[in-house]
Amino acid sequence: MYRTHNCGELRLKNLNQEVTLSGWVQKSRDKGFMLWIDLRDRFGVSQLIFDEKRSSKELFEKAKTLGREFVIQVKGSVIERTSKNPNIQTGEIEILVSKLTILNKSLTPPFTIEDNTDGGEELRMKYRYLDIRRNSIKEKLIFRHKVSSEIRNYLTKLDFIDVETPYLIKSTPEGARDFVVPSRMNEGEFYALPQSPQTFKQLLMVGGIDKYFQIVKCFRDEDLRADRQPEFTQIDCEMSFVNQEDILNTFEGLTKHLLSSIKNIKVDEFPRMTYEEAMSKYGCDKPDIRFGMELGDLNDISKHKNFNVFNSSELVIGIAVPNGNTFTRKQIDSYTDWVRRPQIGAKGLVYVRCNDDGSFKSSVDKFYDQKDLTSWANKTGAKKGDLILILSGNTNEVRSQMSALRLELAENLNLRNPNDFAPLWVTDFPLLEWDEESNKFHAMHHPFTSPKLDQLDLLKKNPKEVKANAYDLVLNGNEIGGGSIRIHDKNIQSLMFKHLGFSEDEAKEQFGFLMNAFEYGAPPHGGIALGLDRLVAILHGEESIRDYIAFPKNNSGKDVMIDAPSKLDDLQLSELFLKLKDKK
Ligand code: AMO
Repeated sequence: MYRTHNCGELRLKNLNQEVTLSGWVQKSRDKGFMLWIDLRDRFGVSQLIFDEKRSSKELFEKAKTLGREFVIQVKGSVIERTSKNPNIQTGEIEILVSKLTILNKSLTPPFTIEDNTDGGEELRMKYRYLDIRRNSIKEKLIFRHKVSSEIRNYLTKLDFIDVETPYLIKSTPEGARDFVVPSRMNEGEFYALPQSPQTFKQLLMVGGIDKYFQIVKCFRDEDLRADRQPEFTQIDCEMSFVNQEDILNTFEGLTKHLLSSIKNIKVDEFPRMTYEEAMSKYGCDKPDIRFGMELGDLNDISKHKNFNVFNSSELVIGIAVPNGNTFTRKQIDSYTDWVRRPQIGAKGLVYVRCNDDGSFKSSVDKFYDQKDLTSWANKTGAKKGDLILILSGNTNEVRSQMSALRLELAENLNLRNPNDFAPLWVTDFPLLEWDEESNKFHAMHHPFTSPKLDQLDLLKKNPKEVKANAYDLVLNGNEIGGGSIRIHDKNIQSLMFKHLGFSEDEAKEQFGFLMNAFEYGAPPHGGIALGLDRLVAILHGEESIRDYIAFPKNNSGKDVMIDAPSKLDDLQLSELFLKLKDKK
């Protein structure tokens, strides 16, 4: 038997018991006549003691040879510590060792396996198995398990069933690039890895499965960010005989359950906001509503003077920064530089100081009087002591610039408390989006999303105006999930493909299998997919998903530990009918 207990469970109540523990040597402290070792396993750390007087000479000498991360097994008795450590759960006891077995040696690890490690990102990823030994990473993986098992149990209780769908499929039109896999048995043909199980879950509905869920890997070849990985996990769901309300209620229930069971937080009914409202109030479709600073539209009250920058802009918007009048000129200048960076792309930033005596001082005093500035303060909700910041430009650009500035300010003013949770639904997304590059409409969500059924006429006349039965779940400014009611009528689906620029033949070639299925009694259906990695990270108070994934990819999409992606040898390439371009 390797152990009678784990390293995290012994307490004073175990005093004088003979125990066997196994684990890794976290660190040792050698006082010459006395030697302590912290022994670690997944469950915690227990202190071992070797003592010149009480241990045999041979045992004492052997203990001195132990290096960091050696794997050992010890037998000994539980004794009370003379100096207790209240910071760890086993801090009142230690094990006086009588037998020591070295199960495996270890090289000196390339970084310290402590909460605050000296290892940089690259090194940690190369030795990810050592990184995972660190508490902070291990706890994140355990937390992820807790969330995913709550989800499984919750959905199972609601009669959802877990059905697996294939990974080697035909490409699904989800908007990102596909990862593809060449077929050895079919020359020149490729599978695609699913960007999501979208079409399969719809086919399961046609198959009468109803209430499907799957915690499933999805693959998207897109540029990486803190909240994006090329392979990530969705909680993918679909239900039959439901309308939008049914789906929102079901998944609001799930999210509330997670917040209460995991975070012990009760939240009220989630607010709902249309896409249009989110864009005009917050400048983005995933607003962080933990704090105010809503965008004030100044168009009507800023274009009547000789200030050409505003007069020639499509949209002038401002936000009130709470207590922002304390900002120094230097601070305001640094925000101006910040919005001018190419990533944000604004030309400049106008400011208005709201003084305590009720007067205003602005960077455009030459053009605007106190009456104008008062109306701007009213529109942005600015109070005495606040600072109004104003941007102008093309509607879409200026909204996204202001949204970024709003988040940056909130971050710096500590208004984004990770222990506050502010979920909301964003609904009524446009069905189609015009793409300037390809000169075509593309589906804002995906081509199977149902238009609002009372707008079918509009779909023929003015498709741009049509809204979809699509919704996103947003939590603390992050898109946690998205879904829609689907089209289950073959004719509407054909019309949709037409708007998306597919000829009848092209639609048949790409989606024939789904359109055929729809001829055999497709029930009304809809669903949603939540991003598990994002949900877990945010519930744990972080926005970067990387450490919630055991073996993530780096920013260039590489796994530096196993060295993937990597080259194939010529034989493999030729079996797959692939030939690399000759290097010049
Ligand atoms: P969507 O594309 O909105 O919808 O994806 C659903 C959710 O998955 C998460 N997500 C990601 N997480 C990490 N890394 C990524 N690269 C990544 N991409 C997406 C997000 C997102 O909200 N089939 C539809 C769902 C449906 O209609 O039912 C779909 O995939 O949290």
